[in-house]
Amino acid sequence: MTSPGRSTARRKPPHVLASAPFRRLWTAMSVCSLGDWLNLLALTALAGNLTAESGYQTQSLAIGGVFVVKMLPAILLGPLAGAFADRFDRRLTMVAADLARFALVISIPLTDADYRWLIIATFLVECVNLFWVPAKDATVPNLVPKERLEEANQLNLLVTYGTAPVAALLFAVLSVAGDALAGLVPYLAERDTYLALTVNALAYLASAALVFTLRDIPRGRTGAVAAPSVLRQITEGWRFAGGDRLVRGLITGMLGAFAAGGAVVGVAKVYVTTLGGGDAAYGVVFGAVFAGMAAGMFFGPRLLRGLSRRRLFGLSIVVAGLVLAAAALVHNLAIVVMLTVLLGACAGIAWIIGYTMIGLEVEDHLRGRTFSFLQSLARVTLLLVVAVAPALAGLYGAHEVVVGGEPVYRFDGSNLVLLAGGLLAAGVGLVSFRQMDDRRGVPVLADLVAAVRGERPGPEGAEEPRGMFIAFEGGEGSGKTTQSRLLAIWLRDQGFDVVQTREPGSTKIGMRLRAILLDAVHQGLSPRAEALMYAADRAEHVEKVIRPALHRGAMVVSDRYVDSSLAYQGAGRALDRGEVAELNTWATGGLVPDLTVLIDTPPELGLTRLGGAADRIESEPLDFHERVRREFRALAAADPGRYLVVDGTLTQEEISRLIQDRVRDVLPDPVPREAEDVTGTMPAIRD
Ligand code: TYD
Repeated sequence: MTSPGRSTARRKPPHVLASAPFRRLWTAMSVCSLGDWLNLLALTALAGNLTAESGYQTQSLAIGGVFVVKMLPAILLGPLAGAFADRFDRRLTMVAADLARFALVISIPLTDADYRWLIIATFLVECVNLFWVPAKDATVPNLVPKERLEEANQLNLLVTYGTAPVAALLFAVLSVAGDALAGLVPYLAERDTYLALTVNALAYLASAALVFTLRDIPRGRTGAVAAPSVLRQITEGWRFAGGDRLVRGLITGMLGAFAAGGAVVGVAKVYVTTLGGGDAAYGVVFGAVFAGMAAGMFFGPRLLRGLSRRRLFGLSIVVAGLVLAAAALVHNLAIVVMLTVLLGACAGIAWIIGYTMIGLEVEDHLRGRTFSFLQSLARVTLLLVVAVAPALAGLYGAHEVVVGGEPVYRFDGSNLVLLAGGLLAAGVGLVSFRQMDDRRGVPVLADLVAAVRGERPGPEGAEEPRGMFIAFEGGEGSGKTTQSRLLAIWLRDQGFDVVQTREPGSTKIGMRLRAILLDAVHQGLSPRAEALMYAADRAEHVEKVIRPALHRGAMVVSDRYVDSSLAYQGAGRALDRGEVAELNTWATGGLVPDLTVLIDTPPELGLTRLGGAADRIESEPLDFHERVRREFRALAAADPGRYLVVDGTLTQEEISRLIQDRVRDVLPDPVPREAEDVTGTMPAIRD
């Protein structure tokens, strides 16, 4: 993705996991999450096995029942339990809840339970969860300093979903082990899920022990506020977020992805059974979705860096839908597993892009509400789909296409649900693609091919720029002004159309901003105002000078660009670097140089080279300039492919030569030849 944020090297103080108490809580959370996923798998599998004799319809409904019972308490009683949880000692609440969950889960294999007890126990476990989760959520801020909270929440999210594939794999292994044991103990023959349930129960017990030793949790209640009810969050959220076109597109798409995922989860067990797979295969399919999701989240955006994020978002949902539809029609377990990985990958891409886009592009005052709105809506959608899908599948029942008395093709309720879910997701993806498309007129296929080849995208909504953008960065007196001029001359000599420019102050407005920014009279200008003015200058610069030049195919050489703000305002003024990066992404529409030349000069040398009276920034103390230098170097180190770092203590000629050598490598065409060699195929050459 082209955004200056990409090149921000964020070096953080000790990681949140360095704190021992948080690490222990986090371990307990991981163990519990693993237990929760195992629980879901084992109970749905058991429900299917217990009702296997009663026909396709009953079996589907029985599995659907487990999902409903698992999700209902959170939706009906969530806020209530949150308020309750605040009145008790958190550590004891968590320990008691863990012990209760242990007892309830272990009771199922111990009593060789029937379907009724399975449903009751499941319901009770979920009710207990309602106390455990808010107690845990409220504890995190007690153990983690405020500035690390976001990191802690990300870790929290990671274990909540990251443990799913692990649990799925574990479940598959335990099912196979259960089958093997059944050879020795015939009692276990129909009960291969008991092993998983036992491990699940033990996970809760382990969590109880871990939390019990966590003495750092303050006792008693604090002033945490109970969350508003899910329905209220949804109606309020829509009122705020629904009016925004981008948010609407994002939410439609993400819900489509969720609904498709819900359909898979809801009918997976039955579908796998009709394909001839057992519980282990169910675990594998389940794990495949999550493994695919993880892979999609991690690799997708990297592989397709060149594609517009908005396009990639809609596209991945459409593909997810089509893949799901294909999985519904193919009756081969191995192929279905492979398709499921692909499906998960598409959903993962959509999810991560959606989340990032809400973070980056949705206005600040809408963002919190959009997130909570989305989460509540996702929950309700999942509940509905997961409950309705198996019921629908059950109602449709088992069908076979018979030709000449021979059954040739099975098309059961689960096939129908998956097919419908897939087509629905594809449709929804298309709608959100249309709503958010920022490159109308550019064929998707051409865009995709270019992205796979690793070509850079043009600025949003416009035709591809054909020129090239080179920025010079460095501290005071580093000589970059001289060097950028020399490079411009050299490029012109090579026959290029060159626009040499600088920041701040290359436009009419920019000149006035420059006067304010550099006038030593304005000592004490607030850092945020300063960052905004540099960004305003830059926005004007990009729109009026840089983009038009790039579009006409020119080479743009700029003395300073976004990195100056990251270094001076971010590191120098100690503003949040992420925020400065975001501000500048917005200001520039995400335009990133093709090459940034950093002339790295020790400030004590650079500052002595300056002539005349020091301006407002030059007169900052030495350690300010040292922070700036460190940040420039960190930015370059984080993205070496896009930077050339030159030692500023070398002679002017040496520096020029190093720069020319590198620029020669990145020129669009091999270095242009003299006019008489030109065959007329060099678009960048004008003069
Ligand atoms: P300038 O006279 O162009 O200095 P130099 O020759 O060092 O480039 O003044 C630019 C000053 O503005 C310089 O001190 C750095 C500062 N600056 C920022 O703090 N943030 C920015 O985003 C930019 C572009 C410049």
